[in-house]
Amino acid sequence: MASKIVSFVLNGREVEVMVRPLTTVQTLLREQLGYTATKVGCRQGGCGSCTVLVNGEPMMSCLLPVEDVEGQQVTTLEGLTPAEGLHPIQEAFYDKFALQCGYCTPGMILVSKALLDWNPRPTREQIVEALAGNYCRCTGYVPIIEAVEEAARRLNTAPHSKKRR
Ligand code: FES
Ligand code: FES
Repeated sequence: MASKIVSFVLNGREVEVMVRPLTTVQTLLREQLGYTATKVGCRQGGCGSCTVLVNGEPMMSCLLPVEDVEGQQVTTLEGLTPAEGLHPIQEAFYDKFALQCGYCTPGMILVSKALLDWNPRPTREQIVEALAGNYCRCTGYVPIIEAVEEAARRLNTAPHSKKRR
């Protein structure tokens, strides 16, 4: 099958790419566009390390054909990270020791962002449920859950809390 041109918005900027049919967003991001915060784990939809946001919803980019994001808004961890410093969720992960090797962290943070946008004051159970598709081999999960709770506190008390980043 012939390659195809696909246009979408990546981290706030319009991009137009030529891809072979069924190229995944994961492969496009890492191998064509150089956005390597999106990780490669199982490539089967089972680990969450490849999570990106599509119109604010977490999606496994290893299972997502580029054709399916035509005209959509895609966000990676690079897009969440401000030009200087860290996003409050990143800060909370850092402060709560919620990462060790860091391989799962981009996916964890993007899922947390989607959760906190939808529900700024999640219960612990809701956090656990939201993160259920994302595996971490290092932390034991407790620091990650505490980091999301801390991020929620900070986002709800910070002066910018009405203008969510
Ligand atoms: S690499 Fe996509 S879910 Fe594991
Ligand atoms: S910090 Fe290593 S896999 Fe989560």
